[in-house]
Amino acid sequence: MSNKIKLFCGEELPLEMHKVKIVQKLELKPIERRLAAVQEAGNNSFLLRNRDVFLDMLTDSGVNAMSNKQQSAMLMADDCYAGGESFFRLEAVLQKVFNKKYYIPAHQGRACEHLLSRVLVKQGDIVPMNYHFTTTKAHIRLQGGEILEIPVDEAFNVKSTCQFKGNIDIAKLEKAFAEHKENIPFVMLQAGTNLIGGQPISLQNVKDVQTVCKKNGVPLVFDASLLQDNLYFMKIREEQCKDMSILEICNEVADNTDIIYFSARKFGCAKGGGICLNNEETFGELRQFVTLFEGFLTYGGMSDKEIEAVAIGISESMDFDVISQGPQFIKFMTDELLKAGVPVMMPAGGLGCHLDARAFLSHLKPEEFQAASLTSALYIISGIRGMERGTMAEERNADGSEHIAAIELVRLALPRRVFTMSQIKFAVDRISWLYQNREIIGGLKWKYEPKILRFFLGQFDQISNWQEKLVEKFKADFGESL
Ligand code: F0G
Repeated sequence: MSNKIKLFCGEELPLEMHKVKIVQKLELKPIERRLAAVQEAGNNSFLLRNRDVFLDMLTDSGVNAMSNKQQSAMLMADDCYAGGESFFRLEAVLQKVFNKKYYIPAHQGRACEHLLSRVLVKQGDIVPMNYHFTTTKAHIRLQGGEILEIPVDEAFNVKSTCQFKGNIDIAKLEKAFAEHKENIPFVMLQAGTNLIGGQPISLQNVKDVQTVCKKNGVPLVFDASLLQDNLYFMKIREEQCKDMSILEICNEVADNTDIIYFSARKFGCAKGGGICLNNEETFGELRQFVTLFEGFLTYGGMSDKEIEAVAIGISESMDFDVISQGPQFIKFMTDELLKAGVPVMMPAGGLGCHLDARAFLSHLKPEEFQAASLTSALYIISGIRGMERGTMAEERNADGSEHIAAIELVRLALPRRVFTMSQIKFAVDRISWLYQNREIIGGLKWKYEPKILRFFLGQFDQISNWQEKLVEKFKADFGESL
């Protein structure tokens, strides 16, 4: 295990426990091209073309490096419409890790959310949850429900070093049942809260939430998309998990939940997803919808090759060496940025390193989209593509006013086993330069604002011409260097 290896020099280095066998050539385009590209994309990093990107830290979804075992399993795919062996291999792996009788396949995480919301949510329902994810909330709302966010108070304190900021506040959950019991169809818990910096939940919290659910006779629905990192944090941060294997921790989490769904674009390092459960009645309803919306019961919109890759990927997620690479690299990057004085989400969580855009660009107003501005600025000066995780990712309030996000983050996702240490150091260097020059960065204003999930397709114009000024300063400092 890499964390068992001590270096003579004393430095704590996240040592890779894998070797690279296939690579893809990268290009860093000149800064003038990067400026043009970000403006063509309406300052939305989702709309950049990948050929203009140097280090793609947009997401870890579907872009984690695959293992040699995943690649070779793909050749064994039992391609067929119905009853393929690939499906049964994946089903067996899921039964081992989640200990649930039934598996409903779906092509990705939001497809599971769609199916579950159709079956479980009705008009006026309230779903208590630690913190929403964009697609989760959109699907629950589409069925007429609402999410009630009840994380612990530390969740939004960027500087707090609370180890499990993703936890549900149990007192708030009890209160939710006292006030809305009739309208609560289930409780949701997202492992490793995506929008609050990949901050984990504890095993104890899963148990406590389940106790409240049982008392009130409702199921606990568990989003396991980010479970891989979360298992790592449970193991290293939670006393009761210290001597347990990753599989044992995973089983214990699963045994304290009723319905588990996952995006295998993350959990499984491939592409796909699905829902695991014991309840026969809910299974019966879900299986009808899966054939209508996803595909037949034994592929659910996934290719058989991907099903094989997911099966191996999830088995490999039970290996501590495999799952520690991501969080250890994220911690390294976060610590280096802290040393340079850059405001980041603390403590280092899963998924990626998160810049605190509200503190970074404290001279801007929240309505000027601090995280989106910082994402654009970083791309211009480095070719690094991050993702806005702030006000742009919210939806407007019912009265039409802007809903200012509780925290304003730029997510720099570190897909597993994709980046090298020198690329991380390059990122830290450029972000540190940007922090020194932050006063040049201005705000953004809407050019095109979609109604649903606006962060995917929305576009902005810069307020004044700060982007050109940033390019000028970069060239003055770096000369011909890209
Ligand atoms: N739940 C969580 C916690 C997620 O992070 C995601 C996706 C989903 C559900 C939806 O899964 O993309 O397979 O449909 N997160 C991606 C990201 C999009 O970039 O963080 P999906």
